[in-house]
Amino acid sequence: MSTTSPARRVAVLGAGGRVGRAVTAALLPHGLHVEAVLRQPDRHDLPPHPRLRVVPGDAQRPAELASTLRAVDALVLAVTPFSAPPQSFDDFDLDYYAAIVAGIDATWRAPRRRLVAVGLAATLTLDSGTVLMDDETLFPPALTPFAQAHARHLPALAATTLDWAVLTPPAGFGTPDGPAAGQAYRLVAEPLSREQATTTLTYDEYARAVADEVVRPSVHAARVAVLSRA
Ligand SMILES: NC(=O)c1ccc[n+]([C@@H]2O[C@H](COP(=O)([O-])OP(=O)(O)OC[C@H]3O[C@@H](n4cnc5c(N)ncnc54)[C@H](OP(=O)(O)O)[C@@H]3O)[C@@H](O)[C@H]2O)c1
Repeated sequence: MSTTSPARRVAVLGAGGRVGRAVTAALLPHGLHVEAVLRQPDRHDLPPHPRLRVVPGDAQRPAELASTLRAVDALVLAVTPFSAPPQSFDDFDLDYYAAIVAGIDATWRAPRRRLVAVGLAATLTLDSGTVLMDDETLFPPALTPFAQAHARHLPALAATTLDWAVLTPPAGFGTPDGPAAGQAYRLVAEPLSREQATTTLTYDEYARAVADEVVRPSVHAARVAVLSRA
């Protein structure tokens, strides 16, 4: 489903994280109202802004998100089950992201439902015919379950009627904002060359791509890579 009307109010799940924080900062200059959804809103340190509201919510408890979702026409999904690699994946649910997406789809009642999800470089298809996570020089095999959970995002989203896009950063994502900050990004369809998939990208560059896809959607029902123009 796609519409052309611009988003007015957007929720960011994981707004306190590294990516979610940058996305929140990139959304506000567009004039949007941003609902920063946090599991512990009393512990946040997001800079105050007249159009930023911090609301409690857990992406894995969609019923508790119902009132927030009712009020927004776009959503950014920037949560992760681990901020650092876990000791073990024994109890990890490979459907972590798929279940969140299904819950959002079932709960979100609004005429316009634009969802932009943060992807994982490990899932990118390379022009060699392989997937990045299959190359252990590029992605630690021990983290494969996490990449598999991200990969299950796509079929889960495809099973919804959301207007969705997955924006996937390259493996060199999260380099400090420096000389590249302020450069434009580009959206690239798969397959990617190994060089493209492993390039660097700052949080700010990536966040601008997400904000643009919220405000003026160009990617529908697809995953694309976000690469730096630098
Ligand atoms: N190169 C790459 O492809 C690459 C690199 C980095 C990240 N990523 C992706 O980017 C996304 C965000 O990662 P990040 O580095 O920003 O992670 P992060 O800094 O750990 O932040 C994640 C945020 O999500 C929140 N969160 C976790 N579970 C939640 C839930 N159930 N409900 C609501 N909020 C929840 C956490 O809040 P709490 O404080 O409550 O825990 C945290 O603020 C992930 O999908 C990750 O895989 C991709």
